[in-house]
Amino acid sequence: MARPCQARILCSGLRHNVGVVRQRAPSARIMACVKADGYGHGATTVATSISDLVDGFAVACIEEALELRDHGIGGPVLLLEGPQSADEIGLAAEHQLTLCLSSPHQLQWLTDADLQTPVSCWLKIDTGMHRLGFAPEVVADTFERLQALRCVTGTPVLCSHFARADSPEDPANNTQEACFDRTVAGLDAAHSLANSAAILTRPDSHRAWVRPGYMLYGGSPFTHRDSVSLGLRPAMELSTAVIGIRDVAEGQAVGYGGRWVAPRASRIATLAVGYGDGYPRHAPDGTPVLIEGSAAPLAGRVSMDMITVDVTDIPAVQVGSRAVLWGSEPDVDTIAQLSGTIGYELLAGMPSRTPRIKESP
Ligand SMILES: Cc1ncc(COP(=O)(O)O)c(C=O)c1O
Repeated sequence: MARPCQARILCSGLRHNVGVVRQRAPSARIMACVKADGYGHGATTVATSISDLVDGFAVACIEEALELRDHGIGGPVLLLEGPQSADEIGLAAEHQLTLCLSSPHQLQWLTDADLQTPVSCWLKIDTGMHRLGFAPEVVADTFERLQALRCVTGTPVLCSHFARADSPEDPANNTQEACFDRTVAGLDAAHSLANSAAILTRPDSHRAWVRPGYMLYGGSPFTHRDSVSLGLRPAMELSTAVIGIRDVAEGQAVGYGGRWVAPRASRIATLAVGYGDGYPRHAPDGTPVLIEGSAAPLAGRVSMDMITVDVTDIPAVQVGSRAVLWGSEPDVDTIAQLSGTIGYELLAGMPSRTPRIKESP
Protein backbone atom coordinates (compact mmCIF):
# COMPACT_ATOMS: atom_id res chain seq x y z
CA MET A 1 0.00 0.00 0.00
CA ALA A 2 1.39 3.38 -1.00
CA ARG A 3 1.31 6.38 1.31
CA PRO A 4 -2.11 7.93 0.67
CA CYS A 5 -0.87 11.52 0.41
CA GLN A 6 -0.65 12.64 -3.21
CA ALA A 7 -0.86 15.70 -5.42
CA ARG A 8 -3.02 15.26 -8.48
CA ILE A 9 -1.84 17.52 -11.29
CA LEU A 10 -4.86 18.64 -13.23
CA CYS A 11 -3.85 19.23 -16.85
CA SER A 12 -7.35 20.49 -17.67
CA GLY A 13 -6.84 23.24 -15.08
CA LEU A 14 -3.47 24.21 -16.55
CA ARG A 15 -4.91 24.36 -20.06
CA HIS A 16 -7.92 26.33 -18.90
CA ASN A 17 -5.67 28.86 -17.16
CA VAL A 18 -3.57 29.34 -20.30
CA GLY A 19 -6.89 30.18 -21.96
CA VAL A 20 -7.46 32.88 -19.33
CA VAL A 21 -4.03 34.35 -20.14
CA ARG A 22 -4.90 34.31 -23.86
CA GLN A 23 -8.23 36.02 -23.20
CA ARG A 24 -6.58 38.74 -21.12
CA ALA A 25 -3.62 39.27 -23.43
CA PRO A 26 -4.86 38.21 -26.87
CA SER A 27 -2.03 39.77 -28.88
CA ALA A 28 0.89 38.74 -26.70
CA ARG A 29 3.04 35.66 -26.93
CA ILE A 30 3.07 33.57 -23.76
CA MET A 31 6.30 32.71 -21.96
CA ALA A 32 4.99 30.27 -19.34
CA CYS A 33 7.02 30.29 -16.10
CA VAL A 34 7.83 26.74 -15.05
CA LYS A 35 10.69 27.52 -12.68
CA ALA A 36 10.88 25.82 -9.27
CA ASP A 37 9.75 22.58 -10.88
CA GLY A 38 6.69 24.19 -12.44
CA TYR A 39 5.76 25.88 -9.14
CA GLY A 40 5.85 22.41 -7.57
CA HIS A 41 3.63 20.76 -10.16
CA GLY A 42 6.51 19.14 -12.09
CA ALA A 43 8.10 21.28 -14.80
CA THR A 44 8.03 18.58 -17.45
CA THR A 45 4.46 17.62 -16.62
CA VAL A 46 3.37 21.23 -16.94
CA ALA A 47 5.39 21.90 -20.08
CA THR A 48 4.14 18.81 -21.91
CA SER A 49 0.55 19.60 -20.88
CA ILE A 50 0.54 23.10 -22.37
CA SER A 51 3.33 23.17 -24.97
CA ASP A 52 0.82 23.40 -27.82
CA LEU A 53 -0.83 26.45 -26.22
CA VAL A 54 2.13 28.63 -25.26
CA ASP A 55 5.11 30.16 -27.07
CA GLY A 56 7.94 29.35 -24.68
CA PHE A 57 8.94 28.47 -21.14
CA ALA A 58 10.83 30.50 -18.54
CA VAL A 59 13.03 28.91 -15.89
CA ALA A 60 15.41 30.20 -13.24
CA CYS A 61 18.57 28.28 -14.04
CA ILE A 62 20.29 26.12 -16.63
CA GLU A 63 19.55 22.86 -14.80
CA GLU A 64 15.84 23.58 -15.10
CA ALA A 65 16.23 24.44 -18.78
CA LEU A 66 18.18 21.26 -19.55
CA GLU A 67 15.54 19.17 -17.78
CA LEU A 68 12.98 20.52 -20.24
CA ARG A 69 15.23 19.87 -23.24
CA ASP A 70 16.00 16.33 -21.95
CA HIS A 71 12.28 15.67 -21.96
CA GLY A 72 11.86 16.82 -25.53
CA ILE A 73 10.58 20.34 -24.98
CA GLY A 74 11.56 22.41 -28.03
CA GLY A 75 11.00 26.09 -28.75
CA PRO A 76 12.13 29.04 -26.68
CA VAL A 77 13.34 28.34 -23.15
CA LEU A 78 14.32 31.52 -21.32
CA LEU A 79 16.85 31.57 -18.48
CA LEU A 80 15.36 34.36 -16.36
CA GLU A 81 18.52 34.93 -14.34
CA GLY A 82 20.81 34.52 -17.31
CA PRO A 83 24.09 32.62 -17.19
CA GLN A 84 25.63 32.09 -13.76
CA SER A 85 29.11 31.36 -15.15
CA ALA A 86 30.93 31.79 -18.45
CA ASP A 87 30.60 28.03 -19.09
CA GLU A 88 26.83 28.21 -19.13
CA ILE A 89 26.88 30.37 -22.24
CA GLY A 90 28.26 27.58 -24.46
CA LEU A 91 25.79 25.15 -22.96
CA ALA A 92 22.94 27.57 -23.54
CA ALA A 93 23.94 28.05 -27.17
CA GLU A 94 24.30 24.30 -27.69
CA HIS A 95 20.76 23.72 -26.38
CA GLN A 96 19.31 26.85 -28.01
CA LEU A 97 18.32 28.42 -24.71
CA THR A 98 17.59 32.14 -24.49
CA LEU A 99 19.68 34.13 -22.02
CA CYS A 100 18.15 37.00 -20.10
CA LEU A 101 21.14 39.28 -19.45
CA SER A 102 20.88 41.60 -16.52
CA SER A 103 24.44 42.51 -15.45
CA PRO A 104 27.65 43.79 -17.02
CA HIS A 105 29.58 40.68 -15.97
CA GLN A 106 27.17 38.52 -17.97
CA LEU A 107 27.63 40.75 -21.01
CA GLN A 108 31.39 40.37 -20.63
CA TRP A 109 31.14 36.56 -20.51
CA LEU A 110 29.10 36.67 -23.69
CA THR A 111 31.55 39.06 -25.37
CA ASP A 112 34.42 36.69 -24.53
CA ALA A 113 32.55 33.53 -25.52
CA ASP A 114 33.78 31.61 -28.51
CA LEU A 115 30.51 30.07 -29.64
CA GLN A 116 29.92 27.62 -32.48
CA THR A 117 26.20 28.49 -32.55
CA PRO A 118 24.86 31.95 -31.76
CA VAL A 119 22.58 32.46 -28.80
CA SER A 120 19.32 34.41 -28.37
CA CYS A 121 19.16 37.05 -25.67
CA TRP A 122 16.75 39.18 -23.70
CA LEU A 123 18.00 42.28 -21.98
CA LYS A 124 16.63 43.09 -18.55
CA ILE A 125 16.20 46.66 -17.34
CA ASP A 126 16.10 47.67 -13.68
CA THR A 127 13.08 49.98 -13.68
CA GLY A 128 12.82 50.18 -9.90
CA MET A 129 12.77 46.72 -8.35
CA HIS A 130 16.54 46.86 -7.81
CA ARG A 131 16.99 43.12 -7.90
CA LEU A 132 18.30 42.41 -11.41
CA GLY A 133 18.69 44.43 -14.57
CA PHE A 134 20.84 47.06 -16.26
CA ALA A 135 20.46 50.63 -15.06
CA PRO A 136 18.31 52.63 -17.51
CA GLU A 137 21.26 54.94 -18.39
CA VAL A 138 23.32 52.11 -19.87
CA VAL A 139 20.54 50.25 -21.68
CA ALA A 140 20.84 51.91 -25.12
CA ASP A 141 24.57 51.33 -25.20
CA THR A 142 24.26 47.75 -23.91
CA PHE A 143 21.54 47.00 -26.47
CA GLU A 144 23.80 48.21 -29.28
CA ARG A 145 26.76 46.23 -27.99
CA LEU A 146 24.66 43.10 -27.77
CA GLN A 147 23.34 43.50 -31.29
CA ALA A 148 26.85 43.97 -32.61
CA LEU A 149 28.05 40.65 -31.17
CA ARG A 150 28.42 37.92 -33.77
CA CYS A 151 27.49 35.31 -31.17
CA VAL A 152 24.05 36.86 -30.63
CA THR A 153 21.21 35.95 -32.94
CA GLY A 154 18.06 38.04 -33.46
CA THR A 155 17.11 41.26 -31.74
CA PRO A 156 17.17 41.08 -27.94
CA VAL A 157 13.77 41.42 -26.27
CA LEU A 158 13.77 44.28 -23.77
CA CYS A 159 12.18 43.29 -20.47
CA SER A 160 11.62 44.31 -16.88
CA HIS A 161 9.72 43.07 -13.82
CA PHE A 162 7.19 44.78 -11.55
CA ALA A 163 7.94 44.79 -7.84
CA ARG A 164 4.36 45.57 -6.78
CA ALA A 165 2.02 44.30 -9.49
CA ASP A 166 0.10 42.42 -6.77
CA SER A 167 -0.96 45.86 -5.47
CA PRO A 168 -2.46 47.24 -8.69
CA GLU A 169 -3.25 50.65 -7.16
CA ASP A 170 0.32 51.25 -6.08
CA PRO A 171 1.73 54.20 -8.08
CA ALA A 172 5.12 52.45 -8.18
CA ASN A 173 3.72 50.28 -11.00
CA ASN A 174 3.13 53.33 -13.20
CA THR A 175 6.52 54.70 -12.26
CA GLN A 176 8.22 51.47 -13.33
CA GLU A 177 6.31 51.25 -16.60
CA ALA A 178 7.04 54.91 -17.41
CA CYS A 179 10.73 54.32 -16.67
CA PHE A 180 10.66 51.31 -19.01
CA ASP A 181 9.02 53.30 -21.80
CA ARG A 182 11.50 56.17 -21.46
CA THR A 183 14.40 53.76 -21.48
CA VAL A 184 13.35 51.77 -24.54
CA ALA A 185 12.17 54.76 -26.62
CA GLY A 186 13.97 54.66 -29.96
CA LEU A 187 15.20 51.07 -29.56
CA ASP A 188 13.65 48.77 -32.12
CA ALA A 189 12.83 45.66 -30.10
CA ALA A 190 9.99 43.59 -28.63
CA HIS A 191 9.05 44.20 -24.98
CA SER A 192 8.10 42.01 -22.01
CA LEU A 193 6.88 43.26 -18.64
CA ALA A 194 3.85 41.42 -17.36
CA ASN A 195 3.71 38.68 -14.72
CA SER A 196 0.34 37.19 -13.64
CA ALA A 197 -0.78 40.23 -11.66
CA ALA A 198 0.05 42.62 -14.49
CA ILE A 199 -1.62 40.35 -17.05
CA LEU A 200 -4.78 40.59 -14.96
CA THR A 201 -4.71 44.33 -14.22
CA ARG A 202 -2.40 46.23 -16.57
CA PRO A 203 -3.32 45.65 -20.23
CA ASP A 204 -0.88 48.33 -21.39
CA SER A 205 1.95 46.26 -19.98
CA HIS A 206 1.20 43.17 -22.06
CA ARG A 207 3.47 44.13 -24.98
CA ALA A 208 4.97 41.35 -27.15
CA TRP A 209 5.53 38.70 -24.49
CA VAL A 210 3.68 38.07 -21.20
CA ARG A 211 5.28 35.91 -18.51
CA PRO A 212 2.55 34.23 -16.46
CA GLY A 213 3.52 32.00 -13.56
CA TYR A 214 1.20 31.65 -10.60
CA MET A 215 -2.04 32.18 -12.52
CA LEU A 216 -1.22 29.20 -14.74
CA TYR A 217 -1.40 27.06 -11.64
CA GLY A 218 -4.78 28.50 -10.69
CA GLY A 219 -3.67 30.77 -7.85
CA SER A 220 -4.60 34.40 -7.37
CA PRO A 221 -1.64 36.77 -7.19
CA PHE A 222 -3.78 39.19 -5.15
CA THR A 223 -4.69 38.97 -1.47
CA HIS A 224 -7.95 40.86 -2.11
CA ARG A 225 -9.31 38.68 -4.94
CA ASP A 226 -9.76 34.93 -5.06
CA SER A 227 -8.90 32.72 -7.99
CA VAL A 228 -12.53 31.84 -8.77
CA SER A 229 -13.37 35.52 -9.31
CA LEU A 230 -10.47 35.65 -11.79
CA GLY A 231 -11.86 32.66 -13.71
CA LEU A 232 -8.92 30.41 -12.77
CA ARG A 233 -9.01 26.71 -11.92
CA PRO A 234 -6.63 24.83 -9.63
CA ALA A 235 -3.93 22.75 -11.27
CA MET A 236 -3.16 20.74 -8.13
CA GLU A 237 -5.27 18.84 -5.65
CA LEU A 238 -3.37 17.77 -2.54
CA SER A 239 -5.21 14.95 -0.81
CA THR A 240 -4.68 12.13 1.62
CA ALA A 241 -6.62 9.63 3.72
CA VAL A 242 -7.76 9.27 7.31
CA ILE A 243 -5.50 6.71 9.01
CA GLY A 244 -7.03 6.75 12.48
CA ILE A 245 -10.03 7.98 14.46
CA ARG A 246 -10.35 8.45 18.22
CA ASP A 247 -12.73 9.98 20.70
CA VAL A 248 -11.33 12.48 23.17
CA ALA A 249 -13.05 13.79 26.28
CA GLU A 250 -13.71 17.48 26.87
CA GLY A 251 -10.53 19.13 28.11
CA GLN A 252 -8.10 16.64 26.51
CA ALA A 253 -5.25 18.10 24.46
CA VAL A 254 -4.35 16.89 20.98
CA GLY A 255 -0.97 16.84 19.24
CA TYR A 256 2.44 18.44 19.92
CA GLY A 257 2.41 21.03 22.65
CA GLY A 258 -1.23 20.29 23.39
CA ARG A 259 -2.20 23.36 21.37
CA TRP A 260 -5.77 22.23 20.74
CA VAL A 261 -7.87 21.36 23.76
CA ALA A 262 -11.24 19.70 23.15
CA PRO A 263 -14.01 22.18 24.04
CA ARG A 264 -16.46 19.24 24.20
CA ALA A 265 -16.30 15.48 23.78
CA SER A 266 -14.84 15.26 20.27
CA ARG A 267 -13.97 12.85 17.50
CA ILE A 268 -10.52 13.34 16.04
CA ALA A 269 -9.38 12.02 12.67
CA THR A 270 -5.66 11.58 12.04
CA LEU A 271 -4.60 12.18 8.43
CA ALA A 272 -1.42 11.06 6.65
CA VAL A 273 -0.11 14.48 5.65
CA GLY A 274 2.26 16.86 7.39
CA TYR A 275 4.88 19.47 6.76
CA GLY A 276 7.07 16.71 5.30
CA ASP A 277 4.50 16.52 2.51
CA GLY A 278 4.26 20.28 1.95
CA TYR A 279 1.36 21.11 4.29
CA PRO A 280 2.33 24.29 6.20
CA ARG A 281 3.47 23.78 9.77
CA HIS A 282 2.04 27.17 10.71
CA ALA A 283 -1.55 26.26 9.78
CA PRO A 284 -3.64 27.36 12.78
CA ASP A 285 -6.43 25.46 14.51
CA GLY A 286 -9.58 25.78 12.43
CA THR A 287 -7.84 25.61 9.03
CA PRO A 288 -10.37 23.79 6.82
CA VAL A 289 -9.80 20.28 5.50
CA LEU A 290 -12.45 18.85 3.18
CA ILE A 291 -13.57 15.37 4.30
CA GLU A 292 -16.66 13.54 3.11
CA GLY A 293 -17.88 16.74 1.49
CA SER A 294 -17.62 18.91 4.62
CA ALA A 295 -14.99 21.28 5.94
CA ALA A 296 -13.43 19.89 9.10
CA PRO A 297 -11.26 22.20 11.24
CA LEU A 298 -7.61 21.41 11.89
CA ALA A 299 -7.20 20.57 15.59
CA GLY A 300 -3.65 20.71 16.88
CA ARG A 301 -0.22 21.41 15.49
CA VAL A 302 0.85 20.06 12.12
CA SER A 303 3.40 17.26 12.57
CA MET A 304 5.94 16.15 9.98
CA ASP A 305 3.78 13.28 8.71
CA MET A 306 0.32 13.77 10.21
CA ILE A 307 -2.37 16.26 11.07
CA THR A 308 -5.35 15.93 13.39
CA VAL A 309 -8.78 17.21 12.45
CA ASP A 310 -12.01 17.63 14.44
CA VAL A 311 -14.64 15.50 12.67
CA THR A 312 -17.19 15.47 15.50
CA ASP A 313 -19.81 16.98 13.20
CA ILE A 314 -19.09 14.76 10.18
CA PRO A 315 -20.26 11.27 11.21
CA ALA A 316 -19.54 9.74 7.78
CA VAL A 317 -15.77 10.05 8.32
CA GLN A 318 -14.03 6.71 8.77
CA VAL A 319 -10.57 5.24 8.39
CA GLY A 320 -9.79 5.44 4.68
CA SER A 321 -11.97 8.51 4.01
CA ARG A 322 -10.21 10.79 1.51
CA ALA A 323 -9.47 14.36 2.55
CA VAL A 324 -8.57 17.37 0.38
CA LEU A 325 -5.97 19.74 1.85
CA TRP A 326 -6.14 22.10 -1.10
CA GLY A 327 -7.61 22.14 -4.58
CA SER A 328 -10.96 23.68 -5.49
CA GLU A 329 -12.15 23.76 -1.92
CA PRO A 330 -10.30 24.88 0.10
CA ASP A 331 -7.97 26.61 -2.34
CA VAL A 332 -4.26 26.90 -1.78
CA ASP A 333 -4.47 30.68 -1.32
CA THR A 334 -6.84 30.22 1.64
CA ILE A 335 -4.52 27.74 3.34
CA ALA A 336 -1.54 30.00 2.65
CA GLN A 337 -3.21 33.13 4.03
CA LEU A 338 -4.31 31.34 7.19
CA SER A 339 -0.74 30.09 7.61
CA GLY A 340 0.88 33.48 7.14
CA THR A 341 2.41 32.81 3.74
CA ILE A 342 1.54 32.87 0.03
CA GLY A 343 0.38 30.04 -2.19
CA TYR A 344 3.53 30.48 -4.29
CA GLU A 345 5.60 29.28 -1.32
CA LEU A 346 3.39 26.31 -0.56
CA LEU A 347 3.39 25.10 -4.16
CA ALA A 348 7.05 25.77 -4.94
CA GLY A 349 8.01 24.13 -1.64
CA MET A 350 6.21 20.84 -2.27
CA PRO A 351 8.72 18.12 -1.42
CA SER A 352 9.56 15.20 -3.67
CA ARG A 353 8.06 12.72 -1.15
CA THR A 354 4.60 13.73 -2.29
CA PRO A 355 3.92 11.87 -5.52
CA ARG A 356 2.60 14.01 -8.38
CA ILE A 357 -0.07 12.11 -10.23
CA LYS A 358 -0.70 13.57 -13.66
CA GLU A 359 -4.31 13.65 -14.62
CA SER A 360 -4.83 14.20 -18.33
CA PRO A 361 -7.87 16.12 -19.53
C1 LIG B 1 11.12 37.71 -14.05
C2 LIG B 1 9.84 37.02 -13.72
N1 LIG B 1 8.85 37.04 -14.62
C3 LIG B 1 7.66 36.44 -14.38
C4 LIG B 1 7.42 35.78 -13.19
C5 LIG B 1 6.08 35.14 -12.95
O1 LIG B 1 5.43 35.77 -11.88
P1 LIG B 1 3.99 35.27 -11.39
O2 LIG B 1 4.19 33.88 -10.88
O3 LIG B 1 3.60 36.21 -10.32
O4 LIG B 1 3.12 35.30 -12.59
C6 LIG B 1 8.43 35.74 -12.24
C7 LIG B 1 8.17 35.06 -10.96
O5 LIG B 1 8.70 35.28 -9.94
C8 LIG B 1 9.67 36.37 -12.51
O6 LIG B 1 10.66 36.36 -11.61
